[in-house]
Amino acid sequence: MTGAALTGIRACVFDAYGTLLDVHAPAQRLAPEIGPQADRLSATWRAKQLEYSWLRSLMRRHTDFWQVTQEALDFALEETGLSDDGLREKLLALYWRLEAYDDGARVLSVLRDAGIATAILSNGSPEMLDAAADNAGLRPLLNAVLSVEPVGIFKPDPATYQLAVDRLGVERSAICFISSNGWDAAGAAAFGFQVAWLNRFRRPRERLPVAPAIVIPTLDELPGALGIA
Ligand code: LAC
Repeated sequence: MTGAALTGIRACVFDAYGTLLDVHAPAQRLAPEIGPQADRLSATWRAKQLEYSWLRSLMRRHTDFWQVTQEALDFALEETGLSDDGLREKLLALYWRLEAYDDGARVLSVLRDAGIATAILSNGSPEMLDAAADNAGLRPLLNAVLSVEPVGIFKPDPATYQLAVDRLGVERSAICFISSNGWDAAGAAAFGFQVAWLNRFRRPRERLPVAPAIVIPTLDELPGALGIA
């Protein structure tokens, strides 16, 4: 961990995809069927999913994240020469019920025991998030599962982060936002959350205007940063 510990936190709000949920699990699971292009397919799928979310926001052409996810997959399948209806359906079915990282449930339990409110705030559609949270067993550990859909634009638009403030009734400076996505960490810090960037993938820091307050390698370091472990 680097940087100062977080203080005065009353709620922890988590990004979903890549942070609590393993977006590369579907292609890894089907790697024997996909072959040597599995990692490239998964990386392109994720990159295009994010790119399309930002571009649609800039173009004011919002659609929900499930459609964006399917369109990104279609691009990735075509680029890797893997277009196949059966493979497409299998990947999407696995994405709908994504596996959770082990550290997510552990840290959510610790936070709940410490009396800190917990939530997901994600670009995912409400249906995607409900399915994933239920499948991963995270639902009982969360006070709220929030989708950006009510504001019709994707993160890092400030209106998306405001959803957590409004729903939890906690001022932004008392909310710790946790994301493995550096761009999301920057957006949340610019909004005024105290941000923990979960650098799961050992990436360089983003060259964006507002840096996260702290950087943690896994979610297990979060309670210590909050002074509750
Ligand atoms: C999310 C994606 C962007 O859950 O990671 O919002």
